[in-house]
Amino acid sequence: MCAFLKKNMSVHVQNTRMTTAKLRLMKAHGEKIAMLTSYDFTLASLVDEAGVEMILVGDSASNVVCGNQYTLPITVDEMIFLTKGVVRAAQHALVVCDMPFGSYQVSEEEAVRNAIKIMKESGCDAVKLEGGEEILPAIRHMIQAGVPVMGHLGLTPQSVNQFGGYGLRAKEEAEAEKLLRDAKLLDEAGCFSIVLEKIPAELAAKVTKAVNCPVIGIGAGNGCDGQVLVLHDALGLNQGFKPKFLRQFAHLAEEVKAAVGEYVQAVKDQSFPNAEESY
Ligand code: KIV
Repeated sequence: MCAFLKKNMSVHVQNTRMTTAKLRLMKAHGEKIAMLTSYDFTLASLVDEAGVEMILVGDSASNVVCGNQYTLPITVDEMIFLTKGVVRAAQHALVVCDMPFGSYQVSEEEAVRNAIKIMKESGCDAVKLEGGEEILPAIRHMIQAGVPVMGHLGLTPQSVNQFGGYGLRAKEEAEAEKLLRDAKLLDEAGCFSIVLEKIPAELAAKVTKAVNCPVIGIGAGNGCDGQVLVLHDALGLNQGFKPKFLRQFAHLAEEVKAAVGEYVQAVKDQSFPNAEESY
């Protein structure tokens, strides 16, 4: 075991901010990595205080924040706007911003330009993008330019129209082999981490063992180095969304509706504001 880890039982309780180097040490140490999405200052502050190692400003903001059906419409400028608030909130967690659909597929130059724009304007620590071998040249250029890159394989929601839905990926041998190959290529190219979404647990565990960088799963079983969930799903705010992989750690939709209902009632019956709540 390295000296750093000998001295420190938990990498997270280290004083300063999470770094990509510390995440690698966590993998080496077998300490699991917790990641959640956030899209605004207030919730990101709570998520950061509660102790996650990474916050993802996911392009799931397109669904969760903007109400779109897919992640595809969100733009680079919209992602930057949201990420700025999260960066202001994060005292410890490493902040990763998703590169939206269309911002890295056209050319390597455009990918690097957009990645640098996102990092400079939002202040995030790293970017995430979806895909394997097809986007490897763009990933290599970004890493050469000094941009820390997180990969994303398996169910990649920006390709929903190609997949024809959000079903389990890599069930068949050919797709599973390609996914394993892609993960090794991303790892060799220098990605600091890889997200695996909605693939069989056995395959995810195999990929996790095969690569050096930390692998973060969502719907990929518990053999990964860490887990990520969309915050609104984990808090039970996203009504009606309950895939098999999701655990709701709270049921805030009911609590929010009950609180708002009480507020409406108090306004109508004039019990709010009372004398103590007035100047
Ligand atoms: O956009 C997002 O929230 C994501 C996670 C589901 C990994 O990419």
